[in-house]
Amino acid sequence: MLEQQADRIMQLSEWEERWQENKIGFHQPEIHRMLQINYNAVVNGRSSVRFFFPLCGKAVDMKWLADLGHSVVGVEISEMAIRQFFQENNMTYSEESLPSLPGATLFQNSEKNISLYQCDLFSFSSSVAGQFGAIWDRGSLVAINPKDRERYAALILSLMGGDCRYLLDTLLYNPDLYKGPPFFVPDKQVQSLFGSSCNVELLQSVDALTDRQRAWGLDSLTENVHLITPKATN
Ligand SMILES: C[S@@+](CC[C@H](N)C(=O)[O-])C[C@H]1O[C@@H](n2cnc3c(N)ncnc32)[C@H](O)[C@@H]1O
Repeated sequence: MLEQQADRIMQLSEWEERWQENKIGFHQPEIHRMLQINYNAVVNGRSSVRFFFPLCGKAVDMKWLADLGHSVVGVEISEMAIRQFFQENNMTYSEESLPSLPGATLFQNSEKNISLYQCDLFSFSSSVAGQFGAIWDRGSLVAINPKDRERYAALILSLMGGDCRYLLDTLLYNPDLYKGPPFFVPDKQVQSLFGSSCNVELLQSVDALTDRQRAWGLDSLTENVHLITPKATN
């Protein structure tokens, strides 16, 4: 089932074009229901958690978490997406280039504690912004090119603090019917990517087929949410 999409590649420029042309059907104007439902599982009673949003787009979930007192760091290649995020949420922002990350720009609203790095995710590392207490991964593992999944998992694992709770949203469908993105990520692969150093728990599995995916040619779509936490070390 993995070979159908193994060679599919989306260039960064294609993502930027999607933003320029407003072809952003993945963006949801509402807080994601899987985050809302699983909020307690990811926060686990903690306050002021440092959340990481890989491939953040302009997800309104970032504002929602910041309003709840958490801090947010996101990474996104599209400058347009980042500017739209702050503008549409009525937030002012500063911008600065980063000598430690050539070509990257950091956009920040310090009042709400939201920092968005405009750069390729694969140039980001814990040396830029440390490690995180939580990760919300929606439209990220499923959006990166399938050949980059091992590299992606290694990066995410390096960004997880010892108490990190990583909420991962994946999609299951018949990859013969649609080439992606979003790409099909089977549970077995989630386990192989993260299971050696983390506990991987399937929290939720829902039928998520809508007209949007029917138009792609799909006849079924399952959305799975996993909670990934570091295994205790002695
Ligand atoms: C499917 S969208 C999901 C956005 C967001 N997570 C959401 O739920 O709305 C994927 C986003 O990742 C960005 N992107 C894709 N590859 C990237 C990369 N290697 N580094 C940084 N951003 C990337 C795209 O511009 C796009 O906004």
